[in-house]
Amino acid sequence: MPLVFLCFLLQFSSLLPPSLVAASGGDSIVFTTLGRSVYAFDVFTLPADENRAPSAADETLITDGESVNFNGYFPSSSSSSSIISLLTNQSQSLRPDLELVYVTERNGISRIFYDAIYGGTGFSTRRRSALEIPHRLQIPLLDDEQKNEVRVSFKDRPSLSGDYLVYVSTHEDPGESRTSWAAVYSRSLRSGTTRRLTPYGIADFSPSVSPSGVWTAVASYGEKGWAGEVEELSTDIYIFLTRDGTRRVKVVEHGGWPCWADDSTLYFHRRGDDQWLSIYRAILPSDGEISTDSVIIERLTPPGLHVFTPATSPANKNLIAVASRRPDSSFRHIELFNLVTGEFKELTKVVSPNSHHFNPFISADGTRIGYHKCRGDSNGRKSNTLFLENVRSPVSNLSLFRIDGSFPSFSPAGDRIAFVNFPGLYVIHRDGSNQQKVYPGAAFSTAWDPVREGVVYTSAGPDFAPLSSQVDIISVNVDDDESNIKKLTKNGENNAFPSPSPDGKWIVFRSGRSGYKNLYIMDAVDGENKALHRLTEGQWTDTMCSWSPDGDWIAFASDRHNPGAGSFDLFLIHPNGTGLRKLFQSGSAGRANHPNWSPDGKVLVFTTDNAGISAEPISNPHHYQPYGEIFTIKMDGSDLQRLTHNSYEDGTPTWSPRYISPVNVQNSYDVEPCGFEDCHWLNQKNKAQNEIKPDLTGPRCSP
Ligand SMILES: *[C@@H]1O[C@H](CO)[C@@H](O)[C@H](O)[C@H]1NC(C)=O
Ligand SMILES: *[C@@H]1O[C@H](CO)[C@@H](O)[C@H](O)[C@H]1NC(C)=O
Ligand SMILES: *[C@@H]1O[C@H](CO)[C@@H](O)[C@H](O)[C@H]1NC(C)=O
Repeated sequence: MPLVFLCFLLQFSSLLPPSLVAASGGDSIVFTTLGRSVYAFDVFTLPADENRAPSAADETLITDGESVNFNGYFPSSSSSSSIISLLTNQSQSLRPDLELVYVTERNGISRIFYDAIYGGTGFSTRRRSALEIPHRLQIPLLDDEQKNEVRVSFKDRPSLSGDYLVYVSTHEDPGESRTSWAAVYSRSLRSGTTRRLTPYGIADFSPSVSPSGVWTAVASYGEKGWAGEVEELSTDIYIFLTRDGTRRVKVVEHGGWPCWADDSTLYFHRRGDDQWLSIYRAILPSDGEISTDSVIIERLTPPGLHVFTPATSPANKNLIAVASRRPDSSFRHIELFNLVTGEFKELTKVVSPNSHHFNPFISADGTRIGYHKCRGDSNGRKSNTLFLENVRSPVSNLSLFRIDGSFPSFSPAGDRIAFVNFPGLYVIHRDGSNQQKVYPGAAFSTAWDPVREGVVYTSAGPDFAPLSSQVDIISVNVDDDESNIKKLTKNGENNAFPSPSPDGKWIVFRSGRSGYKNLYIMDAVDGENKALHRLTEGQWTDTMCSWSPDGDWIAFASDRHNPGAGSFDLFLIHPNGTGLRKLFQSGSAGRANHPNWSPDGKVLVFTTDNAGISAEPISNPHHYQPYGEIFTIKMDGSDLQRLTHNSYEDGTPTWSPRYISPVNVQNSYDVEPCGFEDCHWLNQKNKAQNEIKPDLTGPRCSP
């Protein structure tokens, strides 16, 4: 079809259906976080006894089963004795049986909580469930809700040193593209004042305070910055004074997750030349200059298994706790490692062999080990998974939801959502009811026709597929009992990311038919047989296109500046092929993907690595692109806003045509909790199997 004819038709597209106009009072964005809806993390504890195998009855759940709770820390008795009276102005005569500091994501915001658990005889009789424990004092140590404005940020790795809480937060924008916002802060629980310990311009992860409280060690890039790593980070280990962040010095080249045995001995993990993650020890000089030259480093754990995320207790210097991935198991377990004998003692494998256990920590007296894992359905608790989880939004009048599904899109009236699960295309009411599977095969990227009711477009075929694979655009009439499925492209040459024009007459999509993935426009009803036009042309990848509500623009992601290098920028182009301009670029080699227009056509939401990485990826289950965060930008390229803060992979955002009240929506269908996978890069045996599922943020998702 000639270009001129196409333009003529497109001029009639500016009459919008009223449902596309945003309801007053605000906007809503829905996005996906890979795996997060089934994490159900809670903190558990086992006795740290080297000489006795634990039994299932020894394992105690110590957090309360709300939301996800993780990365715990047992305060030492010197730290904790004053904390309750400090925080509540009550003198507590009764010492709690157990105290815990941890991160929680309840109410859609990352916060640090302190729990004092009074069990009476609870722990001596080894009660299994927190629900059996009669009394729990729960205090948010960092509660941003108390302030007038909600300061949304990711929090991580809390520890208590005296009256000071030391932790990671991402609340300060470094002002630089593709740079992590993670920094270490210290907050006085007595005065409430907070001090940044990480120098500006630098990101720090995984802080650990020495037993005396004097030193803090971190994993950090220093000045060099994140280079896009998604497996082991190429961080170094730095130490500084916990008091004020001064005397900062690099002590180890290449290492992560430091922990202290005493004020001159550090343990950390590192992936060695033989590719096994192992535990190393660094001994700092007792006098003279501390530097990477004067520190003595020794590898402690052997090749043949991955050992990582070490934890220590000052009470037992011969023993550390670690997480491991052994070649004979696909599960991550907590073990003790005896530094004198070099022997491992498996703990959690005996108790729950088929669960992943993360990020161990040991009590100051050395008797108790903590870790987090998925709580599952144990103890008769129903795991209430959420269909739409309200995530706290940093922007007023914008509600934000994490959906339990991928590639969501809204019906024009905003009352239904299409999404994919792997495999299958689903349609569901916004309240989580009436779920229908409308296409059983592999599918990704969904879009609703703005005019013809009940018509949903998707790309049918394997995601992450190479250029030549069979992927076609189909339309599905989801209200038709006959399951009216129509194939709109015919060659199967990786046709994907359909986005209809506002008048419902045209579909823009990307296709690999020329040998390169470029954008094309075809007839929405009868497909390419009726009319087809090429919109972009070049030996690069243009993909993830989204047609603006006023019909004048198509937003898309492209690697045209450096084809094949894996870096994607956002562009805008008129449907008639004029007006091409770059909308957003993340750093020099960053990623921006999945643009989607606001109902008023003024703002785009997208996913990007612009905020770098927020935590060591090994501290989480598998995320292909753990840097993925959701941002918005005005269509003139101004007013870049970060919406999400976490260490997960957020992607495939979509704008709702109507405002949705910020309230959770429960899944009305059974969803198995705990169905997530450990970091694929820890699978030594079969590397080829490591990359099978789609990621949601970026170009690996069949750009
Ligand atoms: C936010 O919503 C309220 C209530 O609907 C409205 O009065 C206000 O003008 C909105 N503010 C912005 C900045 O849109
Ligand atoms: C405790 O008392 C101090 C001083 O009287 C007061 O400023 C603070 O708000 C109180 N804290 C709590 C949690 O009640
Ligand atoms: C192309 O389309 C844009 C808006 O859609 C319009 O402003 C422009 O005049 C058109 N250009 C041509 C050459 O038709």
